[in-house]
Amino acid sequence: MAKSMMRAVGVLPGTREVRLIEHQAPGITAANQVKIRSLEVGVCGTDREICTFVYGSPPAGFEYLVLGHESLGEVVEVGVGVSRFKSGDLVVPSVRRPCPHAHCLPCRTDKQDFCTTGDFTERGIKMIHGFMTEYYVDEEKYLTCVPPELRDVAVLVEPLTVAEKGLSQVWDVQRRLPWIAPTTTADRPGAGKNAVVLGAGPVGILGAMVLVVNGFKTCVYSRSKAPNPKSELVESLGAKYISAQVESVDQLAERIGNIDLVYEAVGTAKISYELLRVLGLNGIYIFTGIPAPKPSLEIDADIIMRNLVLKNQVVVGTVNADRAAFEGAIRDLGIFLKRWPVALRSLITARYKIEQYRDLLLGKANGIKNVIALD
Ligand code: BGC
Ligand code: ZN
Repeated sequence: MAKSMMRAVGVLPGTREVRLIEHQAPGITAANQVKIRSLEVGVCGTDREICTFVYGSPPAGFEYLVLGHESLGEVVEVGVGVSRFKSGDLVVPSVRRPCPHAHCLPCRTDKQDFCTTGDFTERGIKMIHGFMTEYYVDEEKYLTCVPPELRDVAVLVEPLTVAEKGLSQVWDVQRRLPWIAPTTTADRPGAGKNAVVLGAGPVGILGAMVLVVNGFKTCVYSRSKAPNPKSELVESLGAKYISAQVESVDQLAERIGNIDLVYEAVGTAKISYELLRVLGLNGIYIFTGIPAPKPSLEIDADIIMRNLVLKNQVVVGTVNADRAAFEGAIRDLGIFLKRWPVALRSLITARYKIEQYRDLLLGKANGIKNVIALD
């Protein structure tokens, strides 16, 4: 008989605790549901932030939130109405679930990443339990199938969707002007353009991979001096690594020429706005970070405003990801694995047992992507 209780990593905002809890094992209760065994769960800055109790909230009626939103799982059971999955399939779930309101056009059309009411939920983040546990159940429509050859890297799909959605926003927004040369081939639409990735964490490095694959001349701008493991990884992709301790943003801009695209993946405002000041003509700046509120800081607001107007610039915030971004991430992971097998695997720093959650969530962050492996 299946176990009725499972181990899970729970966050208890009421008592300000993070601990292993006994969580009720889920079962299929509707025809369109799929039961999944957790294989791997990635740990990210959002999880660590939830563990400081400034972000995230448990579901109604619960004192705890089961953490975890970056999951790779294996289907163990399907409801009678499920057609796309069978037992044994590898799947990655998306994070956000729609709000209940009839007037929310995005949520009613499977675009809850653009929810207009704020009443969406997010698995492992906002009012719905996450994946840092042994089994979970989800609706078929929120799952994307992973080919078996991606088994050991597919836990990176969710953080990669940040870049996938970000880049699809770039194409949508830049369509308003003649940005892409007619000579550019469809598989390398960024050819001839200069991109800067700000930050060399998992979101930054995965973003750099996407940009390089799309043909952008890519530079990763990050704090640590080179050489270091991340700078070496970045350079092995064919991107350039520049330390912010060695070159100012002005020197960076001088080196690069027109900065056509910035992909922010650092999560701190100060350096992000400094870099915004040197964005180029017709440039687009994508923000992905979610900084905790801090005291206000001085920025070159006049110069930035002047540039936004005189240089036709756009600043876009992007959050969460839709189905297309998940499918794109799985397709691109396959490309990365062929092109950079060693570099891609090295993004996963280490795998831990669920009992080691404390070091991962509350200890000093180390490496690139740390993962809890449950099998
Ligand atoms: C997740 C997103 C989520 C965002 C805000 C990120 O860490 O990847 O899916 O929308 O946090 O909660
Ligand atoms: Zn995350």
